[in-house]
Amino acid sequence: MTTNNDVLIKVEGLKKSFGSNEVLKGIDAEIHKGDVMVVIGASGSGKSTFLRCLNLLEEPTDGKIIVDGVDINDKNIDINLHRRKMGMVFQQFNLFPHMTVLKNMILGPVKLLKKSKEEAAKEAMELLERVGLADRANDYPSQLSGGQKQRVAIVRALCMNPEVMLFDEPTSALDPEMVGEVLEVMKRLAKDGMTMVVVTHEMGFAREVGTKVVFVDKGVIVEQAPPQEFFTNPKNERLKEFLSKVF
Ligand SMILES: Nc1ncnc2c1ncn2[C@@H]1O[C@H](COP(=O)(O)OP(=O)(O)OP(=O)(O)O)[C@@H](O)[C@H]1O
Ligand SMILES: [Mg+2]
Repeated sequence: MTTNNDVLIKVEGLKKSFGSNEVLKGIDAEIHKGDVMVVIGASGSGKSTFLRCLNLLEEPTDGKIIVDGVDINDKNIDINLHRRKMGMVFQQFNLFPHMTVLKNMILGPVKLLKKSKEEAAKEAMELLERVGLADRANDYPSQLSGGQKQRVAIVRALCMNPEVMLFDEPTSALDPEMVGEVLEVMKRLAKDGMTMVVVTHEMGFAREVGTKVVFVDKGVIVEQAPPQEFFTNPKNERLKEFLSKVF
């Protein structure tokens, strides 16, 4: 099955309920190769749930998510293979505390991609080099600052050679002076052509790096536009209110 080969992810009528609480009420979205889709919205509007559905950390209640032309809710697909296409970075780093930075990075490639330790380590070191952390390869996460931990979490996801990177408020847990270094890594990633879906409150990043910005309100995307239009000419009343609080 093929779709427009430019569309990497197509979401149609995505719904997700937890018990009687319908959190996603029908999300429609298209993510093209190289897109940086920035997702904003109030707390509890369903942003994290949306991201988690994309890599099947949550099972959708209804709707379709087509990735590379394949419906990922099809019971016959290999979920692990799908997950490997989607790198995920969380607010809380999620590094293994008892493993060095290098061990954290090679675990996935060795276990899941069946790479040799040597090859995985070589690739990991190249990635660490790119984010200025090669000299911390043998440190444990507890020896790193928040910003450094998050940069490691990003390159750890990149080690798996994902097609898409999902970021859930990657800078929200950081001290203000460390936000910049993480955003810088993300900017470079975007520039290199990585397809990204980013939940963030960093409106500067959304404006500068986003190719489209979407506003989620109570489980529905109520507005989506390129950043310039999104921020200068918002149409939805709830978005106008949201933006007036942010700026
Ligand atoms: N595993 C779960 N079980 C039950 N309810 C959940 C679960 N995950 C999320 N919810 C509920 O879904 C709603 C949306 O949560 P979600 O985390 O997606 O919001 P969000 O937009 O990411 O919010 P925030 O900006 O605070 O991170 C909330 O009401 C939340 O309580
Ligand atoms: Mg969230």
